[in-house]
Amino acid sequence: MAAGDPLPPDIADAIERARPRLAPLASPLVFFSTVGSTNDAAASIAIEGAVVVAEAQTAGRGRRGRTWFSPSGSGLYVSTVLAPTRARVDPRRATTLLTLTAGVAIAEGVEASTGVDVDLKWPNDLYVSGRKLAGILAEAVRDVVVLGYGINLTAAALPSDLRDRATSLEGQTGLAPDRGRVLVETLAALAVRYGDLLAGRFDAILDAWRVRAPAAIGARVTWTAASTVQSGVTAGVDEDGALLVKTDAGLQRIVGGEVKWS
Ligand code: BTN
Repeated sequence: MAAGDPLPPDIADAIERARPRLAPLASPLVFFSTVGSTNDAAASIAIEGAVVVAEAQTAGRGRRGRTWFSPSGSGLYVSTVLAPTRARVDPRRATTLLTLTAGVAIAEGVEASTGVDVDLKWPNDLYVSGRKLAGILAEAVRDVVVLGYGINLTAAALPSDLRDRATSLEGQTGLAPDRGRVLVETLAALAVRYGDLLAGRFDAILDAWRVRAPAAIGARVTWTAASTVQSGVTAGVDEDGALLVKTDAGLQRIVGGEVKWS
């Protein structure tokens, strides 16, 4: 396991104070000033509860092979190792619902630490006023899942081509965010929601997700399936978190891939 760098004092203080609320997460907690991708560093640990945090990533990645812009200090780059297959109730469903669960938790943590109201877009993008604030990347590694999230902290995190589509906590509040607080509140919320997931409290997770995802009902979407562009109107998510879309050909169930919202 990579040793990492010393924790910066603001993060060390915040973690120390929140430690009892973080279990089973942040054990171990590894920090890097710079790393390729926190998801790769977490995958090399692969112990349930491990958390990797970086100040900068040189190869941060998003979903569908995209780059996640990760300059020093402008965002929070975090990955945690989770094991939904050890859920006490229906491990298959717990694994399927992991990314929606993470979206709910990170939205709750952002709100608790900053007061910024966050919406979710299926499956788990975090939006504020129609602009993306944070993204989540879940990757299966052997018998665990590495769940990485990136939150834009300051406007400097946004290159010009993203500026119209993305936002940051600083952009929303006009204040420099307390990254230690955002880190511990997102991890604490993730610890609670992960507990819900392992205990089979799936309806509580789905209810919380639905409340935060107004676009999951009644929004026009397009997506590509079998090389054909399809479109329809969203009709909620089912019990496994699949997006339901009404189309001329009937109700379609989307489980992955890229959905474009209009
Ligand atoms: C997306 O919206 O496309 C997902 C973005 C996920 C970015 C985070 S930053 C921390 C972790 N490490 C990575 O390389 N990616 C995720």
